[in-house]
Amino acid sequence: MTNQKSIAIIGATSAIAHGVAKLYAKENARFALVARNEQNLAVVAQDLHARSASYVSTHVSDLKDPSLHDGIVDYVVGDLGAVDIVILAHGLLKEQADIDHDADATMEIFAVNATSMISLAHRFGCALEKQGSGSLVGLSSVAGERGRRVLYAYGSAKSAVTAFLSGMRGRYLPLGINVLTVLPGPVDTPMTSGRKLPLMASVDEVAIDIKNAIDSRKHVLYTPGFWRIIMAILRAIPEGIFQRAKF
Ligand SMILES: NC(=O)c1ccc[n+]([C@@H]2O[C@H](COP(=O)([O-])OP(=O)(O)OC[C@H]3O[C@@H](n4cnc5c(N)ncnc54)[C@H](OP(=O)(O)O)[C@@H]3O)[C@@H](O)[C@H]2O)c1
Repeated sequence: MTNQKSIAIIGATSAIAHGVAKLYAKENARFALVARNEQNLAVVAQDLHARSASYVSTHVSDLKDPSLHDGIVDYVVGDLGAVDIVILAHGLLKEQADIDHDADATMEIFAVNATSMISLAHRFGCALEKQGSGSLVGLSSVAGERGRRVLYAYGSAKSAVTAFLSGMRGRYLPLGINVLTVLPGPVDTPMTSGRKLPLMASVDEVAIDIKNAIDSRKHVLYTPGFWRIIMAILRAIPEGIFQRAKF
């Protein structure tokens, strides 16, 4: 038997999070899973059990509401004891064109992808600080690297997450707590279903990348790796050219 890791997954019904969890389940990991949809959460929990997880508990919560976040941290710490890995995975994507005239929908994108993610990252960071160890993993996106007219509500929310996690990394590095920012390109999950996106990756390849990055205590992961180069090029394009080019 390998060293059993204790893993909290927030937004555990996400396809990418489930893909990562499957890999850790093979190593007999222990899980505390949090998600909004009770039925889907039960399916994920059952699947991880079947894949040799040594322990799985579940907690249902709408992650958009920060007033519930202290309770989520209390549940995870009370349930798992010492936590090795916290993965923040929930997210909401809407077509930009559908929300171009809808400020409330735009703010919902921010509430789920930015405010809620940052609130949970902050609170779990403090919990890991208290125990003096662990890894915090946040699923951001390459979409956060540059404001694109076709995706700027979601992209700017992810941008906030990326910057917040970067600052947290600096704060926690001296304490031995690792903060990993995951920057996937398009991945074939329910979030992208029905969208025609270039260079779509599979959940399985992205999940392997994420697990390897967690285990090697990497700081920033572009997945698949070629996105590091693509984004370096896109970031270098002057704003006037970038916006006229209609990326
Ligand atoms: N797929 C991609 O191309 C891609 C690319 C870059 C980054 N990402 C990021 O990777 C993460 C995982 O995405 P995915 O592709 O695995 O998407 P997914 O399978 O569609 O999962 C998204 C998850 O977020 C949850 N969620 C949304 N709003 C919530 C709320 N208010 N409260 C609780 N849970 C909520 C959903 O729960 P319900 O099932 O209850 O709706 C679902 O479990 C997200 O942060 C996403 O932004 C994805």
